[in-house]
Parts: sequence; C-alpha cells; structure tokens
Amino acid sequence: MDEDLLWEGFDKYLRFLNKTGLMGQVNLTGGEPLLHPSFWDLSERIVRANLRLGVLTNGTMIDERCARRLALLKPVFVQVSLDGAKANHDRIRGEGTFEQALRGIDCLKAQGAHVLVSFTVQKQNYRDIRELSIICRQHNVDKLWWDRVVSDDTKTLALTTEEFREACRMAARRRWRYRRFDGSSMVNCGRPLQFLATKRPCRYQCGAGGDLLIYLANGDMMACRRLPFVIGNFCDGELADIISQSDKMQMLAAPYTPKGCEGDA
Ligand SMILES: C[S@@+](CC[C@H](N)C(=O)[O-])C[C@H]1O[C@@H](n2cnc3c(N)ncnc32)[C@H](O)[C@@H]1O
Repeated sequence: MDEDLLWEGFDKYLRFLNKTGLMGQVNLTGGEPLLHPSFWDLSERIVRANLRLGVLTNGTMIDERCARRLALLKPVFVQVSLDGAKANHDRIRGEGTFEQALRGIDCLKAQGAHVLVSFTVQKQNYRDIRELSIICRQHNVDKLWWDRVVSDDTKTLALTTEEFREACRMAARRRWRYRRFDGSSMVNCGRPLQFLATKRPCRYQCGAGGDLLIYLANGDMMACRRLPFVIGNFCDGELADIISQSDKMQMLAAPYTPKGCEGDA
C-alpha cells in the first residue's frame, strides 16, 4: 500500500472508531509487513492511538534489534508462520527460512513477546503437526495455531475430508498433550469443525461481518481474507457508511445458524 493510501486508510479507521465507540486492533500482515517502509511509523502511530497491535510475519527479518524494537510496542501478539517442520517449511518457503524463522521466534521470546505460530496445513505438510508442536514447545512458543489452506486446488494443495479428519485427530492429541492448568492448550483446535475431533464443545465465532475488516493494498476492503468478495474501497467514503450500505456485510452480521448446527457439538 502506498503512503497516501496508508494514512488515508488509517485516519478513516480512527474516525470509524471515534464514531462507533468501538475499541480498535490493527493486525499488520501482507505480503511481509516488516518489508514495508512505513512499518515502524505505522506501528508506533497505532500504539500512540491506544489501539492494540498484532503483527503477522514470516519471521525471517527478526533479529535481536528488531525483536527489541517490536517488544517495546507491546503487541498483543506476533504471529510467525511455520509451514511444517524444516523439510516441508523450506520446500514451501525457501531453503534456510525455517532456521531464520526459528531465530526470529527465539529473539522475540527473549524480549518477552507473546508469540503465536501459524501452521497452514496442506496435503504435504499436515502430518508435521506432532513434530512442529514439539519444536514450538522447545522454543517457548505461546500458541501453535493451525488452520487449513483455503484453495480451489484440491489435487495438490487442499485437504480431502478424510485428510482433514486425520489432521484434526493428530492436532487433538497434541492439544491434549500440551494442555495447561487453566484448561487451554498450546495447540489450537478452535477453528470451524476442528471441535469434531477434540471431543469438547467448542463454538467457533467467525469475525466476518462482525469485528473484522480487511484492507487490501489498493484500498479495497473485505469482510474476511478468505471470503472471495470485496465490500467497497475506503477511498469512496467513510467506513461506517460503506459498511452500513453493504448488503454482504449486513447479511454476514445477521444472526444465522445453518440447519443441523443448532446444538452443541
Ligand atoms: C498471508 S501471510 C502474511 C504474513 C507473512 N508474510 C507470513 O508469511 O506469515 C499470513 C498467514 O496466512 C496464511 N495463508 C496464506 N494463504 C492462505 C490460504 N490460501 N489459506 C489459508 N491460510 C493462508 C499463511 O500461511 C500465513 O500463516
């Protein structure tokens, strides 16, 4: 996103919060947010405006200095992506990137940051959940968040129903293995349908149409990064107006429970 658009989008978000009285959180993602020339300026402005800051990164650029600077901003989380254990991660993201990401995690943990690992499962890496959970534990990661890749490519990328069930079962075992005294676990199993394998009631509340809004680099806005439609462009008006005039946002915000999903798991 270029400079002018960035600050216009930020100012409009501040005005939206002012108007609605909502509390704000900005999660910086991409692309790779740490590559953006205004990353630090924007992050500091987010914190100065009393908004919560989240950062989603591939972790490769985080050294001791970067981690110290990030930790000073007190982000609610820094999420580092690991696409499996070393072999799968490096195959997907490039040779050497697994070690770089782990170094980033270690630097962040040394500064006391709250570190999530995002593990996006696809056909070739989903069996890594056990090994990855052990690695995350060794590196003091606070949460291993796993989710399915969203893709039309069901031949080489997206899991079949049976593979997804297997992934759920493996993750549920790791969830149990790394449960904490407060009942939570280092391994997240709270996304849609994951509760089927955890044998625990777990209602997943999707943020689309509620408390989530995505900005793309050209100012287009989405209700969710994975829902394939744009609800408007922030250059065309104030956020509150665009949201209230969007049929899709209104449809998503309406309370609706699909038939068959009314009860607890
Ligand atoms: C888009 S990346 C951007 C931040 C950063 N560059 C990184 O690598 O994490 C954020 C997260 O979205 C996940 N992601 C990307 N495409 C996805 C898809 N089609 N379905 C599910 N997750 C996806 C990535 O695996 C990553 O964990």
